[in-house]
Amino acid sequence: MTTTAIANQKGGVAKTTSTQALGVALAERGRSVLLVDLDPQASLTWACGIDPDALEISIHDVLLRRLPAGDAVIELDPPTPRPAGGPTGRLDLLPSTIDLAGAELHLLTKTGREYVLRKALAGVADRYDRILLDCPPSLGILTINGLTAADEVLIPLQCESLGQRGVGQLLDTIADVRDYTNEHLRVRGAIATLFDRRTNLANEVVAQVREDYDIEVLEPFVPKSVRVAEAPALGRSVLAHAPSSKSAVAYRELAARLDEDARASQRSSA
Ligand SMILES: Nc1ncnc2c1ncn2[C@@H]1O[C@H](COP(=O)(O)OP(=O)(O)O)[C@@H](O)[C@H]1O
Ligand SMILES: [Mg+2]
Repeated sequence: MTTTAIANQKGGVAKTTSTQALGVALAERGRSVLLVDLDPQASLTWACGIDPDALEISIHDVLLRRLPAGDAVIELDPPTPRPAGGPTGRLDLLPSTIDLAGAELHLLTKTGREYVLRKALAGVADRYDRILLDCPPSLGILTINGLTAADEVLIPLQCESLGQRGVGQLLDTIADVRDYTNEHLRVRGAIATLFDRRTNLANEVVAQVREDYDIEVLEPFVPKSVRVAEAPALGRSVLAHAPSSKSAVAYRELAARLDEDARASQRSSA
């Protein structure tokens, strides 16, 4: 089981989109996946077709009232296996609600506040091959909880603007997390999103990030596409909405990479 945090304190860089698409793509491959919505804005919950306002139990109760995570988990429809005839995966969601906005303040006063999510997920970890954590757009206690609970981090980068200064701050935070709460946390790499091949900017952004921060930028890049932007309002991922779009294909290839990591680490520990 691998827990992957998708983090970047900048909003609108496709954290939520990438979390959902990678989760669906892994479930298409027959994996058991838990998506965790750590954002009080509950965009991932919405994008999975769940109305956060109608929920009685959410991650808020898990983090603040220490309810077992399993009690809040919602089973989503598993996607159609790929290739056809392959094993059916499993896709679950630990949903968020706006109540989580107050969690930052309450958590700050608790002993062990960085570890609450990690402890909660330990109770359900044996049900999954992969847990994906959709972090909020800040470096506050919720993101710290995500990084403390994770084995690795993926950093979505929006390829539309140069000067990704936020990446340095995020890497500093990751270094702190390693020092204090999670020494084995590794940076798996960046995902280049909202890639527009008509401009040259993306290649410059990617080159700059590789050089300035010495992190791997995974390939393929995820193209900007209206099909991706349409999907959340329909309550499904781009993989269901436009299965053969270039963006869906890119996310499937990235998911295959993550799956290959997991297999390689199983081999080396066997
Ligand atoms: N590849 C893409 N092409 C077009 N729109 C995208 C793409 N990826 C994300 N978006 C859109 O960009 C917006 C921000 O994405 P989102 O995943 O919510 O970012 P974050 O979680 O980092 O704030 C959303 O409206 C989403 O639908
Ligand atoms: Mg988001």
